[in-house]
Order: sequence, then C-alpha cells, then structure tokens
Amino acid sequence: MAQSAAHPPLIAPSLLAADFARLGEEVAAVAAAGADWLHLDVMDGHFVPNITFGPSLVAALRRHAALPFDVHLMIAPADPFLAAFAEAGADHILIHPESGPHLHRSLQAIRALGRKPGVVLDPATPVAALDYVLDLVDVVLVMGVNPGFGGQAFIHSQLGKIAEVRRRIAGCGRPVRLSVDGGVSRQTAADILAAGADVLVAGSAVFGAPDYAAAIAALRGAGR
Ligand code: DX5
Ligand code: ZN
Repeated sequence: MAQSAAHPPLIAPSLLAADFARLGEEVAAVAAAGADWLHLDVMDGHFVPNITFGPSLVAALRRHAALPFDVHLMIAPADPFLAAFAEAGADHILIHPESGPHLHRSLQAIRALGRKPGVVLDPATPVAALDYVLDLVDVVLVMGVNPGFGGQAFIHSQLGKIAEVRRRIAGCGRPVRLSVDGGVSRQTAADILAAGADVLVAGSAVFGAPDYAAAIAALRGAGR
C-alpha cells in the first residue's frame, strides 16, 4: 500500500543526530522546518550499548516546541520510569517487548498515565509480538536497524515485516500509526512507504542535512 499524495507520511526527526550542545535550538529548527513529531531516543547503556538522556531533558525540551514528543524507551526495566516520562511531557511512550516481563501491563500503565502507548519491534522480533496487544497501542514502531546508534544501514528484511504489520493494522479496525526507525533516508524511504509505513523517523537524514526543511520535504515526498 503506497502512500497517496492526499496522505503524506508524518516525519519525526530523531534528536539523536542533533547537536547536543544546542538541543533547544535544534528542536525549534526542525519544528519550523515542518517536522510532524519529535522522536527522542532514551538509552540506558544496559538494554542497548549506548547512553543518551532521561526525563529531565525531555521536560526541558518540552518548552521549546509544541510538537508531539515520540519518546522511544530503550531501557530495562522501563516500568519504573513510565510516570516520569509522562510527567516530563512525552505524548507517545514506546517500549520494546524485551524490556520487561509484562508487556500488556506496561502498555496499560502508559494508557492510564494519559499517554499514547507504542510497541517497538527489533529486527529479530517477530510480528507475533503484537499478538494480544495491538488493541492497546496507538503506534507500532518497526526498527530498520538494531537499536543503540544512529547512522546505520537499513536492514532490508524489515520491509516484509512492515507490510505484515500494515496488514495487521488494517484488520484491527483502529487508527494505529506504523512508524519506521533506523536507516531511513532519501534512498530507503520510498520502499519503506510502499511497504506500508505512515511515519518516518529520521536522525542523520534530517539533522545531518544542511537544510532541514528540504530534508524533511524530500522524505515526505519519497512515496509519491
Ligand atoms: C536508534 C534510534 C534511532 C536513530 C536513527 O537506536 O532508535 O531513532 O536515531 O538514526 P538514523 O536515522 O540515523 O538511522
Ligand atoms: Zn528511535
């Protein structure tokens, strides 16, 4: 299912590739350049082999943009921190099934905090991880790379998974967003959109570009 011009994909720049010494300005710049969401990667050096930031940074950036904050938790356990990220101003809280023992309970907890829950599928995580939880989520995020670092090459085997998730969402009768994160570029975006994604998360393809507005527009137009 390709995106039509009437429904361009949403673009969510990933702050991981921004200049960390100027984060407030970077957030304002991508908002002005047409970003739809801001993607924030939280890493703990345990669930993934990298460390980024926590809820206090999310709260500080909240004052710099009205964009929905798409907070991707790569931490284990995640449950003890869900309330802190909700309080910090996360709109979406995305968790990996592998980050805790009770995915269903964690997603319910995010909903109870008044935030939109999402599930993240790693490259080796099967679509079956959505069984019995798709009715609880507003976002499914398919990873195009193994989580932890920006600038990695897209793993093409994930295209079939994106298409399978799209079929599941079409059958569930609810408006669930299908987002793809990792290795999204001008080169890969058309295939990712054709497979059924409707949100593109992009770090280096936006913050590594000289003109953020042109980079966002190019990704948005890639499926046409
Ligand atoms: C990786 C993160 C991504 C990362 C993507 O673990 O979840 O959001 O920023 O970076 P690019 O777009 O450069 O592959
Ligand atoms: Zn991410």
